[in-house]
Amino acid sequence: MYKTAIVTLSDKSYAGLREDGSKKVIEKIITAHGYFLSEYILIPDEPGLLRETLIDLCDNKKTPLILTTGGTGFSKRDITPDVTKEVIEKEALGLAEAMRMNSLTITKRAMLSRQTAGIRGSSLIINLPGSPKACKENLEFIITELGHGLQILLGEESECAKNILQ
Ligand code: MTE
Repeated sequence: MYKTAIVTLSDKSYAGLREDGSKKVIEKIITAHGYFLSEYILIPDEPGLLRETLIDLCDNKKTPLILTTGGTGFSKRDITPDVTKEVIEKEALGLAEAMRMNSLTITKRAMLSRQTAGIRGSSLIINLPGSPKACKENLEFIITELGHGLQILLGEESECAKNILQ
């Protein structure tokens, strides 16, 4: 059961002007797949705050999985992928590519998400777009493979390693 943090970036939700429906959707999906919501953080679209939040979740709280939602588009205030790229040590672009590939079969607007994914220390950070619908479509497509990736990241015995040794 991997600890998971949800970080919502939304000026409107932070100001109390809109309910954060994406958090609910993400929590439902991760819980159904055996993950445990250890932390929920709602912040405005501010690069400094996101940088601080991600570094704290990775370095101090050692959170294996960090899911951000929002701020991946073209608005001047959309900074989530840019800060994620600054903070990560290794890219995990396959996850972002997979989500975009699947999302493009649902809506061509998926090409407008600049979402990325990567690793810092023993944490995997994944950007999801902002709407609850987009969160569901993106996360449901990749969640089945995340456990295997996290096992390898955390140095637990992996199916891949077992296959190589046999
Ligand atoms: N991906 C999926 N699967 N479904 C969607 O409805 N919306 C797109 C895209 N990705 C969407 C999606 C739209 S309209 C935008 S503008 C971008 O995500 C960026 O969203 P964000 O700025 O809320 O992060």
